[in-house]
Amino acid sequence: MYRTHTCGELRLADAGKEVTLAGWVQRVRDKGSLVWIDLRDRYGITQLFLDGNSDPKLIEQARTFGREFVIQAKGTVIERESKNPNMPTGDIELKVNAFILLNGSKTPPFTIEDVSDGGDDLRMKYRYLDIRRNPVRKNLELRHRMAMLVRNYLSNLNFLEIETPMLIKSTPEGARDFVVPSRMNPGEFYALPQSPQQYKQLLMVAGMDRYFQIVRCFRDEDLRADRQPEFTQIDCEMSFVEQEDVLNTFEGLAKHLFKEMKGLDFDQFPRMTWHDAMKYYGSDKPDIRFGMKFVELNDVVKGKGFGLFDNADLVVGINADGCSEYTRKQLDALTEFVKRPQVGAGGMVYIKYNTDGTFKSSVDKFYSPEDLKVIAEEFGAKPGDLMLILCGEAMKTRVQLNALRLEMGNQLGLRNPDVYAPLWVIDFPLLEWDEETQRYYAMHHPFTAPKPEDEALLDDPTKWGDIRANAYDIVMNGVEVGGGSIRIHDRTLQNKMFHTLGFTDEKAQEQFGFLMGAFEYGAPPHAGLAFGFDRLCSLFGGADSIRDFIAFPKNNAGRDVMSGSPAPIAQEQLDELQIALNLK
Ligand code: AMO
Repeated sequence: MYRTHTCGELRLADAGKEVTLAGWVQRVRDKGSLVWIDLRDRYGITQLFLDGNSDPKLIEQARTFGREFVIQAKGTVIERESKNPNMPTGDIELKVNAFILLNGSKTPPFTIEDVSDGGDDLRMKYRYLDIRRNPVRKNLELRHRMAMLVRNYLSNLNFLEIETPMLIKSTPEGARDFVVPSRMNPGEFYALPQSPQQYKQLLMVAGMDRYFQIVRCFRDEDLRADRQPEFTQIDCEMSFVEQEDVLNTFEGLAKHLFKEMKGLDFDQFPRMTWHDAMKYYGSDKPDIRFGMKFVELNDVVKGKGFGLFDNADLVVGINADGCSEYTRKQLDALTEFVKRPQVGAGGMVYIKYNTDGTFKSSVDKFYSPEDLKVIAEEFGAKPGDLMLILCGEAMKTRVQLNALRLEMGNQLGLRNPDVYAPLWVIDFPLLEWDEETQRYYAMHHPFTAPKPEDEALLDDPTKWGDIRANAYDIVMNGVEVGGGSIRIHDRTLQNKMFHTLGFTDEKAQEQFGFLMGAFEYGAPPHAGLAFGFDRLCSLFGGADSIRDFIAFPKNNAGRDVMSGSPAPIAQEQLDELQIALNLK
Protein backbone atom coordinates (compact mmCIF):
# COMPACT_ATOMS: atom_id res chain seq x y z
CA MET A 1 0.00 0.00 0.00
CA TYR A 2 1.51 3.30 -1.07
CA ARG A 3 -0.32 5.36 1.51
CA THR A 4 -2.83 5.10 4.33
CA HIS A 5 -3.72 8.80 4.28
CA THR A 6 -3.30 11.82 2.03
CA CYS A 7 -1.03 14.72 2.94
CA GLY A 8 -4.01 16.93 3.75
CA GLU A 9 -5.84 14.63 6.05
CA LEU A 10 -4.18 14.12 9.41
CA ARG A 11 -5.36 16.03 12.49
CA LEU A 12 -4.62 16.07 16.20
CA ALA A 13 -7.20 13.31 16.68
CA ASP A 14 -4.90 11.04 14.65
CA ALA A 15 -1.99 11.47 17.08
CA GLY A 16 -0.45 8.13 17.94
CA LYS A 17 -1.47 6.45 14.69
CA GLU A 18 1.02 4.59 12.53
CA VAL A 19 0.55 5.92 9.00
CA THR A 20 2.14 5.91 5.58
CA LEU A 21 2.13 8.99 3.36
CA ALA A 22 3.33 9.48 -0.20
CA GLY A 23 3.94 12.69 -2.07
CA TRP A 24 6.39 15.27 -3.35
CA VAL A 25 9.10 16.93 -1.29
CA GLN A 26 8.22 20.60 -1.12
CA ARG A 27 11.30 21.45 0.94
CA VAL A 28 13.77 20.04 3.43
CA ARG A 29 14.89 22.04 6.46
CA ASP A 30 18.05 20.65 7.96
CA LYS A 31 19.09 21.92 11.39
CA GLY A 32 21.74 19.29 12.15
CA SER A 33 20.09 16.73 14.37
CA LEU A 34 16.62 18.08 13.51
CA VAL A 35 15.25 17.65 9.99
CA TRP A 36 11.83 18.68 8.69
CA ILE A 37 10.37 17.82 5.31
CA ASP A 38 7.22 19.33 3.87
CA LEU A 39 5.51 16.54 1.97
CA ARG A 40 2.91 17.65 -0.57
CA ASP A 41 0.15 16.04 -2.57
CA ARG A 42 -3.08 17.34 -4.12
CA TYR A 43 -4.77 17.42 -0.74
CA GLY A 44 -2.27 19.41 1.27
CA ILE A 45 1.07 19.39 3.06
CA THR A 46 2.14 17.33 6.05
CA GLN A 47 5.32 18.02 7.97
CA LEU A 48 7.67 15.07 8.39
CA PHE A 49 10.04 15.17 11.33
CA LEU A 50 13.31 13.55 12.37
CA ASP A 51 15.31 14.30 15.51
CA GLY A 52 18.22 13.07 17.63
CA ASN A 53 16.26 9.94 18.52
CA SER A 54 15.80 8.99 14.87
CA ASP A 55 17.99 6.45 13.13
CA PRO A 56 21.00 8.45 11.81
CA LYS A 57 20.64 6.55 8.51
CA LEU A 58 17.19 8.07 8.11
CA ILE A 59 18.62 11.55 8.64
CA GLU A 60 21.29 10.81 6.04
CA GLN A 61 18.63 9.59 3.63
CA ALA A 62 16.47 12.68 4.21
CA ARG A 63 19.41 14.88 3.29
CA THR A 64 19.56 13.29 -0.16
CA PHE A 65 15.98 14.33 -0.99
CA GLY A 66 15.76 17.29 -3.34
CA ARG A 67 12.76 19.38 -4.25
CA GLU A 68 10.01 17.42 -6.02
CA PHE A 69 11.46 13.99 -5.17
CA VAL A 70 8.63 11.49 -4.80
CA ILE A 71 8.87 9.66 -1.50
CA GLN A 72 6.95 7.42 0.80
CA ALA A 73 7.23 8.02 4.55
CA LYS A 74 6.10 5.71 7.34
CA GLY A 75 5.86 6.90 10.89
CA THR A 76 3.83 7.94 13.91
CA VAL A 77 1.55 10.98 14.02
CA ILE A 78 2.62 13.24 16.90
CA GLU A 79 1.43 16.55 18.26
CA ARG A 80 3.62 19.42 17.12
CA GLU A 81 5.48 21.49 19.66
CA SER A 82 5.06 24.70 17.69
CA LYS A 83 1.76 24.51 15.88
CA ASN A 84 1.00 26.28 12.60
CA PRO A 85 -2.57 27.59 12.66
CA ASN A 86 -2.33 28.51 8.96
CA MET A 87 -2.16 24.88 7.87
CA PRO A 88 -5.02 22.40 8.22
CA THR A 89 -2.44 19.78 9.27
CA GLY A 90 -0.55 22.35 11.36
CA ASP A 91 -1.23 20.69 14.74
CA ILE A 92 0.61 17.50 13.92
CA GLU A 93 3.72 16.13 12.29
CA LEU A 94 4.86 12.69 11.26
CA LYS A 95 7.78 11.24 13.24
CA VAL A 96 9.35 9.17 10.47
CA ASN A 97 10.67 5.66 10.99
CA ALA A 98 11.15 4.66 7.32
CA PHE A 99 11.51 6.32 3.95
CA ILE A 100 11.21 4.85 0.48
CA LEU A 101 12.42 6.90 -2.42
CA LEU A 102 9.85 6.33 -5.15
CA ASN A 103 11.40 8.64 -7.74
CA GLY A 104 13.95 11.39 -8.02
CA SER A 105 13.45 14.73 -9.74
CA LYS A 106 15.51 17.26 -11.60
CA THR A 107 15.53 20.65 -9.90
CA PRO A 108 12.30 22.24 -11.16
CA PRO A 109 12.74 25.30 -13.41
CA PHE A 110 10.65 27.43 -11.04
CA THR A 111 9.52 27.23 -7.44
CA ILE A 112 6.36 25.22 -6.91
CA GLU A 113 4.80 27.58 -4.43
CA ASP A 114 1.71 29.80 -4.40
CA VAL A 115 3.70 32.76 -5.65
CA SER A 116 6.15 31.25 -8.11
CA ASP A 117 9.33 32.78 -9.48
CA GLY A 118 8.50 31.32 -12.91
CA GLY A 119 7.37 33.62 -15.72
CA ASP A 120 4.29 32.86 -17.79
CA ASP A 121 6.10 31.17 -20.68
CA LEU A 122 8.20 28.98 -18.43
CA ARG A 123 5.20 27.87 -16.41
CA MET A 124 3.31 27.04 -19.63
CA LYS A 125 6.25 25.01 -20.93
CA TYR A 126 6.25 23.00 -17.73
CA ARG A 127 2.52 23.17 -17.17
CA TYR A 128 2.53 19.79 -15.36
CA LEU A 129 4.70 21.42 -12.70
CA ASP A 130 2.62 24.59 -12.71
CA ILE A 131 -0.47 22.50 -11.98
CA ARG A 132 1.24 21.23 -8.81
CA ARG A 133 0.93 24.80 -7.49
CA ASN A 134 -2.07 25.53 -5.27
CA PRO A 135 -3.60 28.38 -7.28
CA VAL A 136 -3.70 26.37 -10.52
CA ARG A 137 -4.86 23.19 -8.81
CA LYS A 138 -7.62 25.12 -7.06
CA ASN A 139 -8.81 26.52 -10.39
CA LEU A 140 -9.08 23.02 -11.85
CA GLU A 141 -10.92 21.85 -8.74
CA LEU A 142 -13.34 24.77 -9.14
CA ARG A 143 -13.88 23.80 -12.76
CA HIS A 144 -14.67 20.23 -11.74
CA ARG A 145 -17.13 21.36 -9.06
CA MET A 146 -18.87 23.66 -11.54
CA ALA A 147 -19.14 20.86 -14.13
CA MET A 148 -20.66 18.51 -11.54
CA LEU A 149 -23.20 21.15 -10.45
CA VAL A 150 -24.16 21.85 -14.05
CA ARG A 151 -24.58 18.16 -14.89
CA ASN A 152 -26.72 17.45 -11.84
CA TYR A 153 -28.84 20.55 -12.21
CA LEU A 154 -29.63 19.98 -15.87
CA SER A 155 -30.07 16.25 -15.47
CA ASN A 156 -32.64 16.92 -12.74
CA LEU A 157 -34.51 19.09 -15.24
CA ASN A 158 -34.67 16.16 -17.69
CA PHE A 159 -31.82 17.35 -19.91
CA LEU A 160 -29.91 14.46 -21.50
CA GLU A 161 -26.19 14.76 -22.06
CA ILE A 162 -25.63 13.58 -25.61
CA GLU A 163 -22.32 13.63 -27.44
CA THR A 164 -22.17 15.02 -30.95
CA PRO A 165 -19.41 14.44 -33.51
CA MET A 166 -16.10 16.24 -33.50
CA LEU A 167 -15.40 15.58 -37.17
CA ILE A 168 -18.13 17.48 -38.94
CA LYS A 169 -18.89 19.53 -41.98
CA SER A 170 -17.79 23.15 -41.96
CA THR A 171 -20.38 25.30 -40.09
CA PRO A 172 -20.33 28.99 -40.89
CA GLU A 173 -20.70 30.61 -37.47
CA GLY A 174 -18.54 33.65 -37.73
CA ALA A 175 -15.07 32.30 -37.03
CA ARG A 176 -12.80 30.23 -39.25
CA ASP A 177 -12.92 26.47 -38.96
CA PHE A 178 -10.05 24.22 -38.01
CA VAL A 179 -10.00 21.56 -40.70
CA VAL A 180 -8.89 17.95 -40.70
CA PRO A 181 -7.99 16.18 -43.93
CA SER A 182 -9.64 12.85 -44.63
CA ARG A 183 -7.17 10.14 -45.72
CA MET A 184 -9.93 7.90 -47.00
CA ASN A 185 -11.47 10.69 -49.02
CA PRO A 186 -8.54 12.51 -50.59
CA GLY A 187 -9.06 16.20 -51.15
CA GLU A 188 -11.90 16.29 -48.64
CA PHE A 189 -11.86 17.74 -45.17
CA TYR A 190 -13.73 17.55 -41.94
CA ALA A 191 -14.09 20.63 -39.79
CA LEU A 192 -13.86 20.64 -36.02
CA PRO A 193 -17.12 22.05 -34.60
CA GLN A 194 -17.25 25.74 -33.70
CA SER A 195 -20.24 24.58 -31.69
CA PRO A 196 -22.65 21.65 -31.99
CA GLN A 197 -25.35 24.05 -33.22
CA GLN A 198 -26.81 22.02 -36.07
CA TYR A 199 -26.54 18.71 -34.26
CA LYS A 200 -28.39 19.97 -31.25
CA GLN A 201 -31.15 21.25 -33.50
CA LEU A 202 -31.27 17.82 -35.16
CA LEU A 203 -31.60 16.26 -31.70
CA MET A 204 -34.70 18.39 -31.22
CA VAL A 205 -36.09 17.14 -34.53
CA ALA A 206 -35.20 13.68 -33.21
CA GLY A 207 -37.51 14.28 -30.26
CA MET A 208 -34.84 14.38 -27.53
CA ASP A 209 -36.70 17.39 -26.09
CA ARG A 210 -33.94 18.62 -23.78
CA TYR A 211 -30.25 18.23 -24.59
CA PHE A 212 -27.07 19.47 -23.01
CA GLN A 213 -23.41 18.74 -23.44
CA ILE A 214 -20.26 20.04 -21.81
CA VAL A 215 -18.44 20.12 -25.06
CA ARG A 216 -15.22 21.23 -26.66
CA CYS A 217 -15.57 23.80 -29.45
CA PHE A 218 -12.91 24.99 -31.88
CA ARG A 219 -12.56 28.39 -33.48
CA ASP A 220 -9.65 29.65 -35.50
CA GLU A 221 -9.85 33.28 -34.40
CA ASP A 222 -7.55 35.87 -32.89
CA LEU A 223 -6.90 35.10 -29.26
CA ARG A 224 -7.45 37.26 -26.21
CA ALA A 225 -7.58 36.76 -22.46
CA ASP A 226 -11.11 35.43 -22.77
CA ARG A 227 -10.65 33.44 -25.98
CA GLN A 228 -8.95 30.15 -26.69
CA PRO A 229 -8.89 28.28 -30.01
CA GLU A 230 -10.36 25.29 -28.21
CA PHE A 231 -12.73 26.07 -25.42
CA THR A 232 -15.67 24.45 -23.68
CA GLN A 233 -19.35 25.24 -23.83
CA ILE A 234 -22.26 24.14 -21.71
CA ASP A 235 -24.35 23.69 -24.80
CA CYS A 236 -28.13 23.35 -24.37
CA GLU A 237 -31.24 23.06 -26.48
CA MET A 238 -34.94 22.67 -25.59
CA SER A 239 -38.13 21.93 -27.52
CA PHE A 240 -41.57 23.54 -27.18
CA VAL A 241 -40.27 26.61 -25.41
CA GLU A 242 -40.50 30.34 -25.77
CA GLN A 243 -37.83 32.87 -24.92
CA GLU A 244 -39.20 33.28 -21.42
CA ASP A 245 -38.80 29.55 -20.73
CA VAL A 246 -35.21 29.55 -21.93
CA LEU A 247 -34.23 32.62 -19.94
CA ASN A 248 -35.83 31.22 -16.78
CA THR A 249 -34.22 27.80 -17.17
CA PHE A 250 -30.69 29.10 -17.61
CA GLU A 251 -31.10 31.92 -15.13
CA GLY A 252 -32.02 29.09 -12.77
CA LEU A 253 -28.78 27.31 -13.59
CA ALA A 254 -26.74 30.48 -13.09
CA LYS A 255 -28.44 31.15 -9.74
CA HIS A 256 -27.80 27.57 -8.66
CA LEU A 257 -24.09 28.03 -9.42
CA PHE A 258 -23.97 31.33 -7.52
CA LYS A 259 -25.69 29.75 -4.54
CA GLU A 260 -23.57 26.60 -4.42
CA MET A 261 -20.23 28.15 -5.30
CA LYS A 262 -20.53 31.55 -3.61
CA GLY A 263 -23.48 31.35 -1.24
CA LEU A 264 -25.07 34.23 -3.13
CA ASP A 265 -28.80 34.72 -3.79
CA PHE A 266 -30.14 36.83 -6.63
CA ASP A 267 -33.50 38.30 -7.54
CA GLN A 268 -34.53 38.06 -11.15
CA PHE A 269 -31.61 39.09 -13.36
CA PRO A 270 -32.19 42.46 -14.97
CA ARG A 271 -32.89 42.53 -18.70
CA MET A 272 -31.77 45.18 -21.15
CA THR A 273 -32.39 45.42 -24.86
CA TRP A 274 -29.33 45.42 -27.10
CA HIS A 275 -30.39 48.88 -28.24
CA ASP A 276 -30.31 50.25 -24.68
CA ALA A 277 -27.07 48.46 -23.88
CA MET A 278 -25.42 50.22 -26.80
CA LYS A 279 -27.07 53.58 -26.07
CA TYR A 280 -26.30 53.67 -22.37
CA TYR A 281 -23.12 51.63 -22.13
CA GLY A 282 -21.68 51.48 -25.66
CA SER A 283 -21.34 47.73 -25.33
CA ASP A 284 -23.46 44.63 -25.86
CA LYS A 285 -21.99 43.28 -22.63
CA PRO A 286 -22.22 46.13 -20.14
CA ASP A 287 -20.55 45.86 -16.78
CA ILE A 288 -23.39 47.01 -14.54
CA ARG A 289 -21.48 46.64 -11.28
CA PHE A 290 -21.25 50.42 -11.44
CA GLY A 291 -23.20 53.35 -12.89
CA MET A 292 -21.71 56.03 -15.13
CA LYS A 293 -24.50 55.51 -17.64
CA PHE A 294 -24.00 57.47 -20.84
CA VAL A 295 -25.71 60.82 -21.15
CA GLU A 296 -26.37 62.13 -24.67
CA LEU A 297 -25.76 65.84 -24.97
CA ASN A 298 -26.60 66.88 -28.54
CA ASP A 299 -29.54 69.02 -27.34
CA VAL A 300 -27.53 71.03 -24.82
CA VAL A 301 -24.10 71.44 -26.42
CA LYS A 302 -24.79 72.32 -30.02
CA GLY A 303 -25.01 75.85 -31.40
CA LYS A 304 -22.49 77.46 -29.05
CA GLY A 305 -19.76 77.86 -31.64
CA PHE A 306 -17.73 74.80 -30.69
CA GLY A 307 -17.23 73.27 -34.13
CA LEU A 308 -16.23 69.81 -32.94
CA PHE A 309 -19.51 69.36 -31.06
CA ASP A 310 -21.59 71.22 -33.65
CA ASN A 311 -20.46 68.91 -36.45
CA ALA A 312 -20.57 65.70 -34.46
CA ASP A 313 -23.18 63.03 -35.05
CA LEU A 314 -23.24 62.37 -31.31
CA VAL A 315 -21.89 64.13 -28.22
CA VAL A 316 -22.03 61.80 -25.26
CA GLY A 317 -20.43 61.60 -21.85
CA ILE A 318 -20.19 60.03 -18.43
CA ASN A 319 -20.18 61.58 -14.98
CA ALA A 320 -17.52 60.38 -12.56
CA ASP A 321 -18.79 60.90 -9.03
CA GLY A 322 -16.47 62.84 -6.77
CA CYS A 323 -13.62 63.16 -9.29
CA SER A 324 -13.50 66.96 -9.71
CA GLU A 325 -10.09 66.96 -8.04
CA TYR A 326 -8.53 65.02 -10.90
CA THR A 327 -5.23 66.71 -11.72
CA ARG A 328 -4.12 68.01 -15.08
CA LYS A 329 -1.82 65.00 -15.28
CA GLN A 330 -4.63 62.55 -14.64
CA LEU A 331 -6.84 64.21 -17.23
CA ASP A 332 -4.01 64.20 -19.77
CA ALA A 333 -3.52 60.50 -19.10
CA LEU A 334 -7.24 59.87 -19.73
CA THR A 335 -7.01 61.86 -22.98
CA GLU A 336 -4.02 59.76 -24.00
CA PHE A 337 -5.99 56.65 -23.07
CA VAL A 338 -8.90 57.48 -25.39
CA LYS A 339 -6.51 58.50 -28.17
CA ARG A 340 -4.70 55.15 -28.16
CA PRO A 341 -5.27 53.32 -31.44
CA GLN A 342 -7.12 50.54 -29.56
CA VAL A 343 -9.72 53.12 -28.47
CA GLY A 344 -9.41 55.56 -31.35
CA ALA A 345 -11.07 58.76 -30.08
CA GLY A 346 -9.85 62.11 -31.42
CA GLY A 347 -9.76 63.65 -27.94
CA MET A 348 -11.72 64.14 -24.73
CA VAL A 349 -13.54 67.11 -23.25
CA TYR A 350 -13.80 67.44 -19.47
CA ILE A 351 -15.94 69.58 -17.22
CA LYS A 352 -15.05 69.80 -13.55
CA TYR A 353 -17.92 70.70 -11.26
CA ASN A 354 -15.83 72.06 -8.41
CA THR A 355 -16.89 71.55 -4.81
CA ASP A 356 -17.45 75.34 -4.49
CA GLY A 357 -20.05 75.15 -7.28
CA THR A 358 -17.86 76.73 -9.98
CA PHE A 359 -16.92 75.04 -13.24
CA LYS A 360 -13.61 74.44 -14.94
CA SER A 361 -13.63 72.81 -18.35
CA SER A 362 -11.48 72.27 -21.40
CA VAL A 363 -14.13 74.16 -23.41
CA ASP A 364 -14.52 77.26 -21.21
CA LYS A 365 -13.92 79.36 -24.35
CA PHE A 366 -17.22 78.21 -25.84
CA TYR A 367 -19.42 77.54 -22.85
CA SER A 368 -20.37 80.04 -20.15
CA PRO A 369 -20.79 78.87 -16.53
CA GLU A 370 -24.55 78.94 -17.19
CA ASP A 371 -24.11 76.67 -20.24
CA LEU A 372 -21.96 74.31 -18.19
CA LYS A 373 -24.58 74.27 -15.47
CA VAL A 374 -27.19 73.15 -18.01
CA ILE A 375 -24.86 70.37 -19.17
CA ALA A 376 -24.21 69.36 -15.56
CA GLU A 377 -27.95 69.15 -14.96
CA GLU A 378 -28.27 66.89 -17.98
CA PHE A 379 -25.74 64.60 -16.31
CA GLY A 380 -27.40 64.89 -12.92
CA ALA A 381 -23.93 65.97 -11.70
CA LYS A 382 -23.29 67.59 -8.34
CA PRO A 383 -20.42 69.71 -7.02
CA GLY A 384 -17.35 67.50 -6.75
CA ASP A 385 -18.04 65.56 -9.95
CA LEU A 386 -16.14 65.27 -13.19
CA MET A 387 -17.82 64.98 -16.59
CA LEU A 388 -15.95 63.35 -19.45
CA ILE A 389 -17.27 63.82 -22.98
CA LEU A 390 -16.49 62.33 -26.38
CA CYS A 391 -17.97 63.10 -29.78
CA GLY A 392 -18.06 61.77 -33.33
CA GLU A 393 -19.95 59.18 -35.35
CA ALA A 394 -22.57 57.75 -32.98
CA MET A 395 -21.72 54.05 -32.75
CA LYS A 396 -17.95 54.57 -32.84
CA THR A 397 -18.17 57.20 -30.12
CA ARG A 398 -20.26 54.96 -27.90
CA VAL A 399 -17.74 52.16 -28.21
CA GLN A 400 -14.92 54.59 -27.35
CA LEU A 401 -16.82 55.92 -24.36
CA ASN A 402 -17.35 52.32 -23.21
CA ALA A 403 -13.56 51.90 -23.05
CA LEU A 404 -13.27 55.14 -21.04
CA ARG A 405 -16.11 54.12 -18.72
CA LEU A 406 -14.45 50.78 -17.99
CA GLU A 407 -11.10 52.49 -17.44
CA MET A 408 -12.71 54.89 -14.95
CA GLY A 409 -14.40 51.90 -13.30
CA ASN A 410 -10.98 50.30 -12.90
CA GLN A 411 -9.33 53.49 -11.62
CA LEU A 412 -12.06 54.05 -9.07
CA GLY A 413 -12.07 50.43 -7.89
CA LEU A 414 -15.66 49.91 -9.00
CA ARG A 415 -14.99 46.57 -10.70
CA ASN A 416 -14.61 44.38 -7.65
CA PRO A 417 -14.26 40.73 -8.73
CA ASP A 418 -16.15 39.63 -5.61
CA VAL A 419 -19.25 41.54 -6.71
CA TYR A 420 -21.40 39.86 -9.35
CA ALA A 421 -23.81 41.70 -11.62
CA PRO A 422 -25.55 39.34 -14.03
CA LEU A 423 -27.71 40.68 -16.83
CA TRP A 424 -29.64 39.46 -19.86
CA VAL A 425 -29.12 41.43 -23.03
CA ILE A 426 -32.08 40.71 -25.29
CA ASP A 427 -33.45 41.69 -28.70
CA PHE A 428 -30.16 41.61 -30.58
CA PRO A 429 -30.28 42.73 -34.20
CA LEU A 430 -30.81 39.77 -36.52
CA LEU A 431 -28.35 41.01 -39.14
CA GLU A 432 -25.12 42.89 -39.08
CA TRP A 433 -23.73 44.89 -42.02
CA ASP A 434 -20.17 44.20 -43.01
CA GLU A 435 -18.48 47.13 -44.73
CA GLU A 436 -15.67 45.05 -46.16
CA THR A 437 -17.77 42.47 -47.99
CA GLN A 438 -20.73 44.87 -48.40
CA ARG A 439 -23.29 42.38 -47.19
CA TYR A 440 -25.30 41.39 -44.17
CA TYR A 441 -24.23 38.59 -41.86
CA ALA A 442 -26.24 36.82 -39.17
CA MET A 443 -25.27 38.50 -35.92
CA HIS A 444 -25.76 35.27 -33.96
CA HIS A 445 -26.04 32.49 -36.54
CA PRO A 446 -28.26 31.81 -39.56
CA PHE A 447 -30.68 29.64 -37.54
CA THR A 448 -31.79 32.44 -35.23
CA ALA A 449 -35.42 33.51 -35.59
CA PRO A 450 -36.45 37.13 -36.11
CA LYS A 451 -38.96 38.57 -33.68
CA PRO A 452 -42.35 37.61 -35.17
CA GLU A 453 -43.39 41.27 -35.29
CA ASP A 454 -40.25 42.12 -37.35
CA GLU A 455 -40.48 39.15 -39.71
CA ALA A 456 -42.20 41.12 -42.47
CA LEU A 457 -39.17 43.44 -42.67
CA LEU A 458 -37.24 40.57 -44.28
CA ASP A 459 -39.10 41.47 -47.49
CA ASP A 460 -37.61 44.98 -47.52
CA PRO A 461 -33.80 45.03 -47.87
CA THR A 462 -33.68 48.68 -46.73
CA LYS A 463 -35.03 47.56 -43.35
CA TRP A 464 -32.78 44.57 -42.75
CA GLY A 465 -30.61 46.42 -40.28
CA ASP A 466 -33.69 47.13 -38.13
CA ILE A 467 -34.87 43.53 -37.75
CA ARG A 468 -34.62 42.34 -34.16
CA ALA A 469 -33.86 38.73 -33.37
CA ASN A 470 -35.19 36.50 -30.65
CA ALA A 471 -31.62 36.28 -29.42
CA TYR A 472 -30.19 36.83 -25.97
CA ASP A 473 -26.86 36.90 -24.19
CA ILE A 474 -26.16 36.35 -20.54
CA VAL A 475 -23.59 38.86 -19.35
CA MET A 476 -21.78 39.01 -16.01
CA ASN A 477 -19.45 41.80 -14.96
CA GLY A 478 -18.92 42.88 -18.55
CA VAL A 479 -18.20 39.36 -19.80
CA GLU A 480 -20.43 37.59 -22.30
CA VAL A 481 -20.76 34.25 -20.55
CA GLY A 482 -23.42 32.80 -22.81
CA GLY A 483 -25.72 33.36 -25.72
CA GLY A 484 -28.54 31.74 -27.58
CA SER A 485 -31.71 32.21 -29.51
CA ILE A 486 -35.08 30.94 -30.58
CA ARG A 487 -34.45 28.92 -33.73
CA ILE A 488 -36.23 29.05 -37.01
CA HIS A 489 -38.08 25.74 -37.29
CA ASP A 490 -39.95 26.57 -40.45
CA ARG A 491 -38.26 25.66 -43.70
CA THR A 492 -39.73 28.56 -45.68
CA LEU A 493 -38.54 31.14 -43.19
CA GLN A 494 -35.14 29.44 -42.99
CA ASN A 495 -34.84 29.59 -46.79
CA LYS A 496 -35.74 33.27 -46.73
CA MET A 497 -33.07 33.83 -44.13
CA PHE A 498 -30.45 32.05 -46.26
CA HIS A 499 -31.37 34.25 -49.21
CA THR A 500 -31.10 37.35 -47.05
CA LEU A 501 -27.60 36.19 -46.12
CA GLY A 502 -26.72 35.90 -49.78
CA PHE A 503 -26.83 32.11 -50.13
CA THR A 504 -28.07 30.78 -53.47
CA ASP A 505 -30.45 27.81 -53.29
CA GLU A 506 -27.60 25.51 -54.33
CA LYS A 507 -25.19 26.91 -51.76
CA ALA A 508 -27.78 26.69 -48.98
CA GLN A 509 -28.55 23.12 -50.02
CA GLU A 510 -24.86 22.22 -50.08
CA GLN A 511 -24.12 23.79 -46.70
CA PHE A 512 -27.28 23.07 -44.75
CA GLY A 513 -29.14 20.49 -46.82
CA PHE A 514 -29.21 17.93 -44.01
CA LEU A 515 -30.74 20.38 -41.54
CA MET A 516 -33.23 21.65 -44.10
CA GLY A 517 -34.11 18.08 -44.99
CA ALA A 518 -34.71 17.28 -41.33
CA PHE A 519 -36.99 20.29 -41.01
CA GLU A 520 -39.33 18.62 -43.50
CA TYR A 521 -40.03 15.86 -41.00
CA GLY A 522 -41.77 17.72 -38.23
CA ALA A 523 -39.28 20.01 -36.52
CA PRO A 524 -40.66 21.16 -33.15
CA PRO A 525 -40.35 24.80 -32.10
CA HIS A 526 -37.04 24.91 -30.27
CA ALA A 527 -34.50 27.22 -28.73
CA GLY A 528 -31.29 27.07 -26.79
CA LEU A 529 -28.25 28.66 -25.35
CA ALA A 530 -24.58 27.92 -24.76
CA PHE A 531 -22.54 29.13 -21.84
CA GLY A 532 -18.82 29.64 -22.29
CA PHE A 533 -17.74 27.25 -19.55
CA ASP A 534 -14.15 28.53 -19.30
CA ARG A 535 -15.40 32.10 -18.95
CA LEU A 536 -17.92 31.06 -16.33
CA CYS A 537 -15.15 29.34 -14.36
CA SER A 538 -12.78 32.30 -14.56
CA LEU A 539 -15.57 34.61 -13.42
CA PHE A 540 -16.37 32.42 -10.43
CA GLY A 541 -12.66 32.11 -9.75
CA GLY A 542 -12.26 35.89 -9.80
CA ALA A 543 -9.70 35.89 -12.62
CA ASP A 544 -9.57 37.67 -15.97
CA SER A 545 -7.91 35.01 -18.06
CA ILE A 546 -9.63 31.76 -18.98
CA ARG A 547 -6.19 30.16 -19.45
CA ASP A 548 -5.88 29.78 -15.69
CA PHE A 549 -8.90 27.47 -15.72
CA ILE A 550 -7.79 25.21 -18.57
CA ALA A 551 -5.34 22.43 -17.72
CA PHE A 552 -3.33 22.71 -20.92
CA PRO A 553 -4.16 26.00 -22.66
CA LYS A 554 -2.67 27.52 -25.80
CA ASN A 555 -0.69 30.74 -25.75
CA ASN A 556 -1.66 33.92 -27.61
CA ALA A 557 -0.18 32.59 -30.82
CA GLY A 558 -2.37 29.48 -30.56
CA ARG A 559 0.62 27.36 -29.56
CA ASP A 560 0.94 24.69 -26.93
CA VAL A 561 4.50 25.49 -25.91
CA MET A 562 4.71 22.34 -23.82
CA SER A 563 4.03 19.79 -26.56
CA GLY A 564 5.17 22.08 -29.36
CA SER A 565 1.97 22.05 -31.37
CA PRO A 566 1.12 22.98 -34.02
CA ALA A 567 4.05 21.35 -35.80
CA PRO A 568 4.92 20.18 -39.29
CA ILE A 569 3.95 16.60 -40.12
CA ALA A 570 6.07 13.99 -41.85
CA GLN A 571 6.22 13.89 -45.64
CA GLU A 572 4.77 10.35 -45.52
CA GLN A 573 1.73 11.66 -43.68
CA LEU A 574 1.29 14.41 -46.25
CA ASP A 575 1.71 11.91 -49.08
CA GLU A 576 -0.85 9.61 -47.55
CA LEU A 577 -3.29 12.52 -47.37
CA GLN A 578 -2.30 13.55 -50.90
CA ILE A 579 -1.56 17.04 -49.67
CA ALA A 580 1.16 19.15 -51.27
CA LEU A 581 2.29 22.12 -49.23
CA ASN A 582 2.41 25.46 -50.96
CA LEU A 583 3.97 27.61 -48.23
CA LYS A 584 4.45 31.27 -49.07
P1 AMO B 1 -21.66 31.76 -29.17
O1 AMO B 1 -20.84 31.83 -30.39
O2 AMO B 1 -22.21 33.04 -28.61
O3 AMO B 1 -22.95 30.85 -29.40
O4 AMO B 1 -20.84 31.00 -28.04
C1 AMO B 1 -21.40 30.75 -26.77
C2 AMO B 1 -20.44 31.19 -25.68
O5 AMO B 1 -19.18 30.54 -25.81
C3 AMO B 1 -18.15 31.39 -25.30
N1 AMO B 1 -17.08 31.51 -26.32
C4 AMO B 1 -15.77 31.36 -26.09
N2 AMO B 1 -15.10 31.09 -24.96
C5 AMO B 1 -13.76 30.97 -25.04
N3 AMO B 1 -13.05 31.08 -26.18
C6 AMO B 1 -13.68 31.35 -27.35
N4 AMO B 1 -12.98 31.42 -28.47
C7 AMO B 1 -15.10 31.50 -27.33
N5 AMO B 1 -16.05 31.76 -28.26
C8 AMO B 1 -17.23 31.77 -27.64
C9 AMO B 1 -18.78 32.71 -24.96
C10 AMO B 1 -20.09 32.67 -25.71
O6 AMO B 1 -21.08 33.42 -25.08
N6 AMO B 1 -24.20 27.81 -30.96
C11 AMO B 1 -24.32 29.07 -30.30
C12 AMO B 1 -25.13 28.99 -29.02
C13 AMO B 1 -26.62 28.88 -29.25
O7 AMO B 1 -27.18 29.63 -30.09
O8 AMO B 1 -27.25 28.07 -28.56
C14 AMO B 1 -22.93 29.60 -29.95
O9 AMO B 1 -21.93 28.92 -30.09
O10 AMO B 1 -19.01 32.77 -23.56
